[in-house]
Amino acid sequence: MLDHLKANNRVWADQMVADDTAFFQRLEDQQAPEYLWIGCSDSRVPANEIVGLAPGELFVHRNVANLAPPQDANYLSVLQYAIDALKVKHILVVGHYGCGGVAAAVDGGRRGLVDHWLHPIREVHEQHQAELDAIGDEKQRLNRLCELNVIRQVKNVATDIFVREAWQRGQALSVHGWVYSLSNGLITDLDVTVGKAEEIARLG
Ligand code: CO
Repeated sequence: MLDHLKANNRVWADQMVADDTAFFQRLEDQQAPEYLWIGCSDSRVPANEIVGLAPGELFVHRNVANLAPPQDANYLSVLQYAIDALKVKHILVVGHYGCGGVAAAVDGGRRGLVDHWLHPIREVHEQHQAELDAIGDEKQRLNRLCELNVIRQVKNVATDIFVREAWQRGQALSVHGWVYSLSNGLITDLDVTVGKAEEIARLG
């Protein structure tokens, strides 16, 4: 079963060792990533590859539509571990244009549990209804919603108690909002970086 994947894995592991004999030994001893990536589960948005980081350099949390829900134990566990144990310096909330999750949140369709998961995006949509309604092109409107969703998730992360406590004890930590383009592979920085509690207000 899935022999091609196992074969790929052997080729990959061999290549890593060929490039750097001690690679796996070093990783086994310690992971010390400087970045936490919170991104979409979409198969077209592979976190490490997009930013050219090797195993051990990026702590990753992915879910449908890159949400950071304040009550989600999975996300919160990742966030706390990244901040308190790994002491990452940057948290990257990375959405992507053409996100199926974002589109599904507002198309009125019923899909089951995921409709509840996507509820926060409908709230973002309501909050920015006037701005979004003014965008005539549907694709552009959804892409703007992708951006607004990222900004909202940056706010969720930056206002979280784990982040606030890190800042209070003087730990260097910034939260960034990015959007990845499926059409050209490039990241757009939404310029909503928050590096201290006083900067949260700029997120609106
Ligand atoms: Co997506």
